[in-house]
Amino acid sequence: MSGKFIVFEGVEGSGKTTQIQQIQSWLQRCRLLDPATRIVTTREPGGTALGQQLRQILLQSTDDLIQDRTELLLYAADRAQHVEAYLKPLLAAGAIVLCDRYTDSTVAYQGYGRQLDQILIEQLNQIATGGLVSDLTFWLDVEVELGLERAQGRAAHDRIERADLSFHRRVQQGFTQLAAAHPQRIVRIDASLSPEAVSQQIQQVLQARLQDWYGIEFA
Ligand SMILES: Nc1ncnc2c1ncn2[C@@H]1O[C@H](COP(=O)(O)OP(=O)(O)OP(=O)(O)O)[C@@H](O)[C@H]1O
Ligand SMILES: [Mg+2]
Repeated sequence: MSGKFIVFEGVEGSGKTTQIQQIQSWLQRCRLLDPATRIVTTREPGGTALGQQLRQILLQSTDDLIQDRTELLLYAADRAQHVEAYLKPLLAAGAIVLCDRYTDSTVAYQGYGRQLDQILIEQLNQIATGGLVSDLTFWLDVEVELGLERAQGRAAHDRIERADLSFHRRVQQGFTQLAAAHPQRIVRIDASLSPEAVSQQIQQVLQARLQDWYGIEFA
Protein backbone atom coordinates (compact mmCIF):
# COMPACT_ATOMS: atom_id res chain seq x y z
CA MET A 1 0.00 0.00 0.00
CA SER A 2 1.33 3.42 -0.81
CA GLY A 3 1.37 6.22 1.75
CA LYS A 4 0.58 9.91 1.45
CA PHE A 5 3.02 12.74 0.97
CA ILE A 6 1.87 16.05 2.48
CA VAL A 7 4.03 19.16 2.16
CA PHE A 8 4.00 22.46 4.06
CA GLU A 9 5.24 25.54 2.21
CA GLY A 10 5.46 29.27 2.85
CA VAL A 11 7.82 32.17 3.52
CA GLU A 12 10.07 32.43 6.59
CA GLY A 13 8.10 32.38 9.83
CA SER A 14 4.81 31.37 8.21
CA GLY A 15 4.43 28.60 10.79
CA LYS A 16 5.42 25.48 8.85
CA THR A 17 7.41 23.83 11.62
CA THR A 18 4.81 24.75 14.25
CA GLN A 19 1.94 23.35 12.19
CA ILE A 20 3.71 20.16 11.15
CA GLN A 21 4.16 19.28 14.82
CA GLN A 22 0.52 20.08 15.62
CA ILE A 23 -0.77 18.08 12.65
CA GLN A 24 1.49 15.14 13.43
CA SER A 25 0.06 14.87 16.92
CA TRP A 26 -3.49 15.41 15.61
CA LEU A 27 -3.05 12.56 13.12
CA GLN A 28 -1.50 10.34 15.78
CA ARG A 29 -4.59 10.92 17.92
CA CYS A 30 -6.96 10.28 15.02
CA ARG A 31 -8.62 7.01 15.95
CA LEU A 32 -10.15 6.55 12.52
CA LEU A 33 -6.75 5.86 10.96
CA ASP A 34 -5.31 2.36 11.09
CA PRO A 35 -3.10 2.43 14.22
CA ALA A 36 -0.33 0.78 12.21
CA THR A 37 -0.08 3.86 9.94
CA ARG A 38 3.18 5.68 10.66
CA ILE A 39 2.93 9.50 10.80
CA VAL A 40 6.40 10.82 10.01
CA THR A 41 7.77 14.37 9.84
CA THR A 42 10.76 15.46 7.80
CA ARG A 43 12.18 18.56 6.14
CA GLU A 44 14.16 19.96 3.25
CA PRO A 45 16.94 20.64 3.31
CA GLY A 46 18.18 18.22 5.95
CA GLY A 47 15.90 15.18 5.93
CA THR A 48 18.84 12.73 5.74
CA ALA A 49 22.30 12.58 7.31
CA LEU A 50 23.88 13.79 4.07
CA GLY A 51 21.12 16.41 3.77
CA GLN A 52 21.90 17.63 7.26
CA GLN A 53 25.45 18.47 6.11
CA LEU A 54 24.08 20.21 3.02
CA ARG A 55 21.67 22.18 5.24
CA GLN A 56 24.59 23.42 7.31
CA ILE A 57 26.33 24.63 4.17
CA LEU A 58 23.19 26.21 2.71
CA LEU A 59 21.95 28.01 5.79
CA GLN A 60 25.07 28.72 7.85
CA SER A 61 27.61 29.80 5.22
CA THR A 62 28.84 33.35 4.94
CA ASP A 63 26.35 35.38 2.92
CA ASP A 64 28.32 35.87 -0.31
CA LEU A 65 30.07 32.52 -0.40
CA ILE A 66 27.50 30.49 -2.32
CA GLN A 67 26.68 31.41 -5.91
CA ASP A 68 23.02 31.23 -6.93
CA ARG A 69 23.44 28.22 -9.22
CA THR A 70 25.56 26.45 -6.63
CA GLU A 71 22.74 27.00 -4.13
CA LEU A 72 20.22 25.57 -6.59
CA LEU A 73 22.32 22.45 -7.13
CA LEU A 74 22.90 21.90 -3.41
CA TYR A 75 19.15 22.00 -2.76
CA ALA A 76 18.67 19.56 -5.64
CA ALA A 77 21.31 17.20 -4.21
CA ASP A 78 19.60 17.30 -0.82
CA ARG A 79 16.26 16.51 -2.48
CA ALA A 80 17.58 13.63 -4.59
CA GLN A 81 19.01 11.98 -1.48
CA HIS A 82 15.86 12.63 0.55
CA VAL A 83 13.52 11.20 -2.11
CA GLU A 84 15.50 8.03 -2.81
CA ALA A 85 16.85 7.16 0.59
CA TYR A 86 13.99 8.31 2.80
CA LEU A 87 10.70 9.36 1.18
CA LYS A 88 10.20 6.57 -1.35
CA PRO A 89 10.78 3.69 1.09
CA LEU A 90 8.51 5.29 3.71
CA LEU A 91 5.73 5.94 1.21
CA ALA A 92 6.07 2.44 -0.20
CA ALA A 93 5.53 1.14 3.35
CA GLY A 94 2.30 3.17 3.69
CA ALA A 95 3.42 6.05 5.93
CA ILE A 96 1.83 9.48 6.02
CA VAL A 97 4.78 11.84 5.55
CA LEU A 98 4.58 15.50 6.60
CA CYS A 99 7.39 17.40 4.91
CA ASP A 100 8.63 20.92 5.72
CA ARG A 101 9.32 22.44 2.23
CA TYR A 102 9.71 20.65 -1.13
CA THR A 103 9.83 21.56 -4.83
CA ASP A 104 7.62 24.66 -4.60
CA SER A 105 10.19 26.27 -2.30
CA THR A 106 12.81 25.85 -5.03
CA VAL A 107 10.55 27.49 -7.60
CA ALA A 108 9.72 30.31 -5.17
CA TYR A 109 13.20 30.95 -3.69
CA GLN A 110 15.57 30.10 -6.52
CA GLY A 111 13.16 30.86 -9.38
CA TYR A 112 11.34 33.97 -8.18
CA GLY A 113 13.71 35.04 -5.38
CA ARG A 114 17.08 34.51 -7.09
CA GLN A 115 15.52 34.85 -10.54
CA LEU A 116 17.14 31.74 -12.00
CA ASP A 117 15.68 30.19 -15.14
CA GLN A 118 12.31 28.55 -14.37
CA ILE A 119 12.67 25.84 -17.01
CA LEU A 120 16.05 24.85 -15.61
CA ILE A 121 14.49 24.67 -12.13
CA GLU A 122 11.61 22.51 -13.34
CA GLN A 123 14.07 20.16 -15.04
CA LEU A 124 16.20 19.96 -11.92
CA ASN A 125 13.17 19.34 -9.71
CA GLN A 126 12.20 16.52 -12.07
CA ILE A 127 15.69 14.98 -11.85
CA ALA A 128 15.88 15.35 -8.07
CA THR A 129 12.41 13.95 -7.34
CA GLY A 130 12.33 11.22 -9.97
CA GLY A 131 8.73 12.38 -10.47
CA LEU A 132 7.60 12.21 -6.82
CA VAL A 133 4.90 14.89 -6.46
CA SER A 134 3.10 15.71 -3.21
CA ASP A 135 -0.41 14.35 -2.69
CA LEU A 136 -1.32 17.63 -1.01
CA THR A 137 0.58 20.85 -0.31
CA PHE A 138 -0.44 23.42 2.28
CA TRP A 139 0.70 26.93 1.47
CA LEU A 140 0.82 28.85 4.76
CA ASP A 141 0.16 32.33 3.46
CA VAL A 142 1.29 35.18 5.64
CA GLU A 143 2.53 38.71 4.89
CA VAL A 144 6.30 38.65 4.42
CA GLU A 145 6.81 41.29 7.13
CA LEU A 146 4.77 39.36 9.69
CA GLY A 147 6.59 36.12 8.90
CA LEU A 148 10.01 37.77 9.22
CA GLU A 149 8.93 39.44 12.46
CA ARG A 150 7.95 36.04 13.87
CA ALA A 151 11.20 34.50 12.67
CA GLN A 152 13.19 37.34 14.28
CA GLY A 153 11.83 36.15 17.60
CA ARG A 154 14.04 33.09 17.30
CA ALA A 155 17.67 33.15 18.37
CA ALA A 156 19.76 32.64 15.23
CA HIS A 157 19.12 34.05 11.74
CA ASP A 158 20.15 31.94 8.78
CA ARG A 159 21.57 33.01 5.43
CA ILE A 160 18.18 33.00 3.68
CA GLU A 161 16.41 34.92 6.45
CA ARG A 162 19.06 37.62 6.14
CA ALA A 163 18.28 38.24 2.44
CA ASP A 164 16.67 41.62 1.72
CA LEU A 165 12.95 42.33 1.81
CA SER A 166 12.56 42.55 -1.97
CA PHE A 167 13.91 38.98 -2.21
CA HIS A 168 11.28 37.75 0.27
CA ARG A 169 8.55 39.65 -1.59
CA ARG A 170 9.49 37.88 -4.84
CA VAL A 171 9.39 34.54 -3.01
CA GLN A 172 5.88 35.36 -1.78
CA GLN A 173 4.86 36.23 -5.34
CA GLY A 174 6.23 32.82 -6.37
CA PHE A 175 4.02 30.96 -3.90
CA THR A 176 1.03 33.03 -5.03
CA GLN A 177 1.62 32.10 -8.67
CA LEU A 178 2.21 28.44 -7.84
CA ALA A 179 -1.05 28.21 -5.88
CA ALA A 180 -2.94 29.73 -8.82
CA ALA A 181 -1.29 27.31 -11.25
CA HIS A 182 -1.93 24.17 -9.15
CA PRO A 183 -5.29 24.63 -7.43
CA GLN A 184 -5.82 20.89 -6.88
CA ARG A 185 -2.47 20.16 -5.29
CA ILE A 186 -1.87 23.41 -3.38
CA VAL A 187 -4.32 24.59 -0.72
CA ARG A 188 -3.92 28.11 0.64
CA ILE A 189 -4.21 28.53 4.39
CA ASP A 190 -4.55 31.91 6.11
CA ALA A 191 -1.48 31.69 8.33
CA SER A 192 -1.84 35.17 9.86
CA LEU A 193 -4.22 33.83 12.51
CA SER A 194 -3.38 32.16 15.83
CA PRO A 195 -1.58 28.78 15.70
CA GLU A 196 -4.81 27.08 16.84
CA ALA A 197 -6.91 28.76 14.12
CA VAL A 198 -4.33 27.87 11.45
CA SER A 199 -4.31 24.28 12.64
CA GLN A 200 -8.12 24.14 12.50
CA GLN A 201 -8.10 25.17 8.84
CA ILE A 202 -5.51 22.52 7.99
CA GLN A 203 -7.42 19.83 9.88
CA GLN A 204 -10.62 20.64 7.99
CA VAL A 205 -8.94 20.23 4.63
CA LEU A 206 -7.15 17.09 5.79
CA GLN A 207 -10.34 15.47 7.06
CA ALA A 208 -11.88 15.73 3.60
CA ARG A 209 -8.74 14.31 1.98
CA LEU A 210 -8.45 11.46 4.48
CA GLN A 211 -12.05 10.55 3.72
CA ASP A 212 -11.22 10.41 0.01
CA TRP A 213 -7.96 8.54 0.49
CA TYR A 214 -8.91 6.01 3.14
CA GLY A 215 -12.71 5.91 2.93
CA ILE A 216 -13.05 6.86 6.60
CA GLU A 217 -15.92 9.02 7.86
CA PHE A 218 -15.40 11.92 10.24
CA ALA A 219 -18.45 12.77 12.36
N1 LIG B 1 0.13 31.42 13.96
C1 LIG B 1 1.13 31.97 14.64
N2 LIG B 1 0.98 33.15 15.26
C2 LIG B 1 2.01 33.71 15.96
N3 LIG B 1 3.25 33.17 16.06
C3 LIG B 1 3.46 32.00 15.45
C4 LIG B 1 2.42 31.34 14.70
N4 LIG B 1 2.93 30.20 14.19
C5 LIG B 1 4.22 30.15 14.58
N5 LIG B 1 4.54 31.22 15.35
C6 LIG B 1 5.85 31.53 15.93
O1 LIG B 1 6.58 32.20 14.91
C7 LIG B 1 7.92 31.69 14.82
C8 LIG B 1 8.13 31.05 13.46
O2 LIG B 1 7.29 29.88 13.34
P1 LIG B 1 7.83 28.56 12.65
O3 LIG B 1 9.22 28.28 13.07
O4 LIG B 1 6.79 27.50 12.83
O5 LIG B 1 7.81 29.06 11.11
P2 LIG B 1 8.49 28.38 9.85
O6 LIG B 1 7.54 28.61 8.72
O7 LIG B 1 8.86 26.99 10.16
O8 LIG B 1 9.77 29.30 9.67
P3 LIG B 1 11.11 28.97 8.80
O9 LIG B 1 10.74 29.10 7.36
O10 LIG B 1 12.06 30.06 9.19
O11 LIG B 1 11.56 27.59 9.20
C9 LIG B 1 8.08 30.71 15.99
O12 LIG B 1 8.66 31.40 17.05
C10 LIG B 1 6.65 30.29 16.30
O13 LIG B 1 6.49 29.97 17.66
MG1 LIG C 1 10.72 26.02 10.09
